[in-house]
Amino acid sequence: MSFDLSVIPHKNIILAVTGGIAAYKSAILVRRLKDFGFDVRVVMTHGAQAFITPLTFQALSGNPVHTELLDPEAEAGMGHIELARWADLVLVAPASCDTIAKFANGLADDLLSTLYLATKAPVWVAPAMNQQMWAAKATQRNLQTLVEDGVHVIMPDAGEQACGDVGLGRMPEPEDLARQVAAYFHKAQRAIAEKFGLLAGKRVTITAGPTREAIDPVRYISNHSTGKMGFALAAACYAAGAKVTLVAGPVSLDTPNGVERINVKSAMQMLDASMNQLEEGCDIFIATAAVADYRVAEVAEHKIKKAGDELAVSLVKNPDIVATIAQQQQRPFMVGFAAETRNVEEYAAGKLVAKKLDMIACNDVSRPDIGFASDENAMTVFFAQSYHLEKRELEKASKQEISQQLVEAIHDALLQK
Ligand SMILES: Cc1cc2nc3c(=O)[nH]c(=O)nc-3n(C[C@H](O)[C@H](O)[C@H](O)COP(=O)(O)O)c2cc1C
Repeated sequence: MSFDLSVIPHKNIILAVTGGIAAYKSAILVRRLKDFGFDVRVVMTHGAQAFITPLTFQALSGNPVHTELLDPEAEAGMGHIELARWADLVLVAPASCDTIAKFANGLADDLLSTLYLATKAPVWVAPAMNQQMWAAKATQRNLQTLVEDGVHVIMPDAGEQACGDVGLGRMPEPEDLARQVAAYFHKAQRAIAEKFGLLAGKRVTITAGPTREAIDPVRYISNHSTGKMGFALAAACYAAGAKVTLVAGPVSLDTPNGVERINVKSAMQMLDASMNQLEEGCDIFIATAAVADYRVAEVAEHKIKKAGDELAVSLVKNPDIVATIAQQQQRPFMVGFAAETRNVEEYAAGKLVAKKLDMIACNDVSRPDIGFASDENAMTVFFAQSYHLEKRELEKASKQEISQQLVEAIHDALLQK
């Protein structure tokens, strides 16, 4: 099974441990599930506690372990109904013959069997037992009932058993079980994305192009940004099912199909338009614009006439649009861009932290073949630490292709929120 481990959505897993010798493997299973970013709560039968202590699972999962059905304290907090609702998936590993029989017959005389009846979440069982117990007619009959009831039964492995027998009945290795769970959520997520688009229903605001800071009615300070990257991203986000608004500085580009465009000139106007978008509702804010860091302190009312050999124009700092938006209480998912000419990655990673961004895409504009006026780009994408995502190198490609990859990166990060 091969899939990208970095795009597993954040989910809640109940790991139920029953009284089998394989219970010791479940300790490792907790670790492996957590490696995928799952939140894990452990439920143990009384039988399981004869093999391994709740303390082990509490320490490994970072959550209290649930063992009792008729526990007044637990019922006030995470009782069986709450646990049942909390779970996105219930994995019973190892699943003993006894618990399988209870599930098949609808018994509800302990926490796990009651939880099984109370949950809407998918239930997976990983039977583990002596090969003769596995082959027993009653066990096979009960498993057949579980399959008919919609339970996913994970086939045990064959091999040497703890009791010395050889045959079917070994619990699969924890790594394998955890990967199967991760693959299940990954596939489900991809199926939704393929049907409705990677950013279906998301409201995206993108700033693009340069800003123009007036000196007088006919002159201004600006930069070489063409807006191509932002416009390509707007088209890609729209194609991915998002509602997209482009806050565009002065550029000569056609508005992509389906995208709303707000034209601005100065950094102050860009900030105002961006804040308005935030008020109207914005899930993802992508800042590709090359915003002027400074504006002219006092814009001359009339054209400045040629006079002496020197002319001093005093500049004041513009507000930082990205940082301002990132500071808002109801902040969207923030994507920044960094165009640097040296120490690109170092500056970008610093900007990610300093401006409290969720993701930053950076490129080296000193390279003549990519960047500003070019139709191609190459980027490195960094994610904030909380996402547990590796940095991604986007190889040199058209700005359309790079945009598609950025949409995927945003989608992958959002899955982990
Ligand atoms: C040493 C020992 C090992 C056991 N190993 C297993 C096992 O691997 N699989 C199993 O189904 N039952 C096994 N059992 C039997 C269960 O512990 C027993 O059926 C118990 O009632 C299960 O309860 P539970 O399903 O509530 O955890 C074992 C019992 C002992 C004493």
